[in-house]
Amino acid sequence: MKRQIGKSGRWVFAVGLGGMPLSIRSRPDRHHAAAVIEAAVESGVDFIDTADSYCIDDNDIGHNERLISETLRQLDTTDRVLLATKGGLTRPDGRWERCGSPEHLRAACERSLVALGTESIALYQFHAPDTTVPFADSIGALADLRAQGKIQNVGLSNVTRNHIDDALTQVPIVSVQNRCHVLCQDDIRSGLLDYCATKGITFIPYSPVGGGNGHKTLRDVAVLREIGHGHQCSPYRVALAWLLSKGNHVLPIPGASRIESITDSARAVDVTLSSQEILQIDRLAD
Ligand SMILES: NC(=O)c1ccc[n+]([C@@H]2O[C@H](COP(=O)([O-])OP(=O)(O)OC[C@H]3O[C@@H](n4cnc5c(N)ncnc54)[C@H](OP(=O)(O)O)[C@@H]3O)[C@@H](O)[C@H]2O)c1
Repeated sequence: MKRQIGKSGRWVFAVGLGGMPLSIRSRPDRHHAAAVIEAAVESGVDFIDTADSYCIDDNDIGHNERLISETLRQLDTTDRVLLATKGGLTRPDGRWERCGSPEHLRAACERSLVALGTESIALYQFHAPDTTVPFADSIGALADLRAQGKIQNVGLSNVTRNHIDDALTQVPIVSVQNRCHVLCQDDIRSGLLDYCATKGITFIPYSPVGGGNGHKTLRDVAVLREIGHGHQCSPYRVALAWLLSKGNHVLPIPGASRIESITDSARAVDVTLSSQEILQIDRLAD
């Protein structure tokens, strides 16, 4: 099962890897983290989501980008895997703060190019709109970076339909990355997920199995466990299969700090839910 990134002509396996758990405070050691990335690639994953801010604090910016790019080079798979990064957040003293000024985005992109060891980033996502900076100024900076060839494709994250429409007046947008999972269905119910399809934009659900802590709640949801029992698979795989059922433009990026998590998640492509099962899961967010 494959997904196209926007209308770029680049196709990837329908389940990606979210890199965040490999670089934040509870991260595994480097050897283990590399093994998780290797297991993902061996499972068919060829889309990895990262960000300059996936790190411990501002002294550690780029940790996740360096970890993933160096591991892919060691595995000799750099050309096969699409690495999607983000800019627009900072980590002062470990906090997450928005910073969407054109100056910051230009500098962040330069740092990401170095961290990723590339001359051009395949997909650069604006991490989150910054209410202290006009949105058009942030997007304008990304349009300039694209025109210069430093980034090939622009994506958005944590956005509304209005943001998408506004951004499209300045630059083609190939992807939208928002929080979306069985207990957080706002973008499905609002029509945003379908709207992305009409615009040829890939929808990338983040925290697709509930998030760093939320996944422990999600795995205990009785409906997911029962459906998983019927398909002889984990509730995680059911949750991901449900997202995949929402459209051919949906590309979930489950995080993992354990090998078992990503090898299980990748197998969600083999789970086909019935329309009755999909309806049961739709109702979980009522
Ligand atoms: N754009 C944004 O603002 C934003 C925000 C948050 C996240 N993200 C991106 O989205 C990615 C995913 O989100 P997330 O990491 O917050 O949450 P998540 O994907 O919902 O996963 C959280 C945790 O669930 C566990 N898990 C996942 N699949 C599993 C499976 N099949 N079996 C058992 N456990 C499983 C993993 O635990 P273990 O660690 O024990 O393996 C993982 O760390 C992030 O890595 C990041 O790339 C983006």
